[in-house]
Amino acid sequence: MLGFLTLVWICIFLIFLLIRIPRLKNFPPGPQPFPIFGNLLHLNNVNPLNDLKRFAECYGKIYTVYWGTRPVVILNSFEVIKEALVTKAVDFAGRPQECMFSHMSDFKGILMADYGPGWKEHRRFALMTLRNFGLGRQTMEERILGEISHIVAYLEKNAGGAVNPQTLFHNAASNVISLVLFGSRYEYSDEFLTRYVQLITENSKIISGPWNVVYEAFPILRNLPLPFKKAFDNVKEIKEMTLKLINEHKKTSVPGEPRDFIDCYLDELDKKENETSTFSEAELIMQIMDLHFAGTDTTSNTLLAAFLYLMNYPDVQARCQQEIDEVLEGKDQPSFEDRHNIPYTQAVIHEVQRVANTVPSALHSTTKDTELMGYNIPKGTLVIPNFTSVLNEEGQWKFPHEFNPANFLNDEGQFEKPEAFMPFSAGPRVCLGEGLARMELFLIIVTLLRRFQFVWPEDAGEPDYTPVFGVTQTPKPYRMHIRFREPGK
Ligand code: HEM
Ligand SMILES: *[C@@H]1O[C@H](CO)[C@@H](O)[C@H](O)[C@H]1NC(C)=O
Ligand SMILES: *[C@@H]1O[C@H](CO)[C@@H](O)[C@H](O)[C@H]1NC(C)=O
Repeated sequence: MLGFLTLVWICIFLIFLLIRIPRLKNFPPGPQPFPIFGNLLHLNNVNPLNDLKRFAECYGKIYTVYWGTRPVVILNSFEVIKEALVTKAVDFAGRPQECMFSHMSDFKGILMADYGPGWKEHRRFALMTLRNFGLGRQTMEERILGEISHIVAYLEKNAGGAVNPQTLFHNAASNVISLVLFGSRYEYSDEFLTRYVQLITENSKIISGPWNVVYEAFPILRNLPLPFKKAFDNVKEIKEMTLKLINEHKKTSVPGEPRDFIDCYLDELDKKENETSTFSEAELIMQIMDLHFAGTDTTSNTLLAAFLYLMNYPDVQARCQQEIDEVLEGKDQPSFEDRHNIPYTQAVIHEVQRVANTVPSALHSTTKDTELMGYNIPKGTLVIPNFTSVLNEEGQWKFPHEFNPANFLNDEGQFEKPEAFMPFSAGPRVCLGEGLARMELFLIIVTLLRRFQFVWPEDAGEPDYTPVFGVTQTPKPYRMHIRFREPGK
C-alpha cells in the first residue's frame, strides 16, 4: 500500500516537472513561466515590474523572465549593474550567440561577438585606430569639424524657417563614421550613402520589432519566409556594397600610409599573412557594418534629444550660449579641449545624455558559471542590464525625474560626473565609440549654439519627451525654428 502511494506521488511529481519549465537552482526570482511560451504572454500588457512587486524585496533589482523556454535575467539599479558589469567584469562580458543579431553578422564583427580572442583583438585594433594612431594626417577633431561645416551650411540656408533635423543629424553622424571607415564623406544625397543607411535603418527596425522576439523564442520558425528574412537579405546587400569599397581600396592603398580604417585593416592583414589570426576580409566587412551601425543612430538620436530639450528650456540654451561666447571669444572654432572651460555646457550635454537614454539596454551573456547578488547564474545565460533604471534612479541623482543640468554640477558650479552616469554602459563591453561620440556631441552642440538660436515653433504644441522605443530610442519627430545670432550679443 505504502509502495503504491509513493509510486502515485512520484508519477504526479514527474508529470508536474514535465509540464513546468524547470526553475534553475537559486536562480533570480520571476513570474512562473508557461510551457513553450514562457512569460511572453505576460509581457505585452503587463509591466513585469508591477507584476513582481509582491515577491522578494530585491525582486525589482534582479529578476528572470522566460522568452519561450529561455530564461533572461534583467538587472535593475546601479548596485546590481555595477556588480555585474564592473566588479565581475569578465563573467558578464559575453554576448548571446543564439539570437538574430548574431546570426545576421555570421558570428563576426564586434558588437555581437562573444567574449574571446576574436573580439579582444578586434576591439583593441578598433580602439587604436579610432584614437588617431595611423588614421592619416587629419585628426579626428578636424574630420568632425569638417562635417560640421556642412551642417552649418544647411542650417544657414534654412535660417528663418523651421526644419525637421532628423535626416540632417543622421547623415552627419553617418558621415563622421564614414570618414573614419572609408576615408570619404558623402553628399547628403549620395546614392551609396542613402542605400547603406536605408538598409541599416531597416534592420534596426526589424531587430527592435516583434518578429525578432518570434525568431528568438521559436527556433523552428527561423527558416520560414517570415519578415525577418528581409533582414538577412539586407545584410547580404550590405556585404556586397562593402566588398566593392574594400576592393577599390586595395587598388589605391599604399602600405604603411593608411588613409582610413579599411587601409589600416588591410595593412594588418598583410602583416599577419603567415600567422593564424582572427583577422580576415570577411571579418573586415562585418567590422565595418557594426561600427557604422553602432555609430550612427546612437549619435544622431542623442543630438535630436539635445535640441528638443535646448529649445524647450530656453534659459538653459541662453546660459550655454553666454558661456560659449565668453570662452571662445576670438576663436574660429571650438576644440574638444575647451570642454574643461565650459562646465555648464558640459553639464547640459551630459544631462541630455542622461534623459535621452539613447541605448536603454544591452544584451550580455555570462562567460562562466557565476553569482550575482547571491543568486547563481550559469554560463551562457542571457543577461540584460536596464540602463534606464540607473539613469533615473532615486538616490543616485539630485533631480532624477527632471531635466536639470545641476545633476552634473557641484556647489561651486564645477562639472562633476556621478558614477551612475552610464549611457555608454560600463566594464569590458563599454561603448567602443565613447570617445568619438563625446567629441562629436561636444563639437556639434557647441558650434551650433554659437551660431544659431533654436526656437520651438509656436504652432508645435506641447513637446512630447517620451521617446519612440527601439534598440536605440529617439525623440518623436519635431521641427526646430532656426535664427541667426551674433556671438557675444
Ligand atoms: C551617443 C552615442 C552613443 C551611445 C549612447 C552609445 C552607447 C553604447 C552602449 C550602451 C553600448 C553597449 C555596451 C554593452 O554591451 O554593455 C555600446 C556598444 C558599442 N558602441 Fe556605442 N554608443 C554611442 C556611439 C558610438 C559610436 C560613435 C561608435 C562608433 C565607433 C560606437 C561603437 C560601439 C561598439 C563597437 C560597441 C560594441 C562594443 C563591444 O561589444 O565590445 N558607439 N554603445
Ligand atoms: C610569408 O611567407 C612567404 C613565403 O614563405 C614570404 O615570401 C613572405 O615574405 C612572408 N610574409 C611575411 C609578412 O612574413
Ligand atoms: C527598466 O527600468 C525602468 C525605470 O526604473 C522601469 O520603468 C522598467 O520597467 C525597467 N524595465 C524592465 C524590463 O525591467
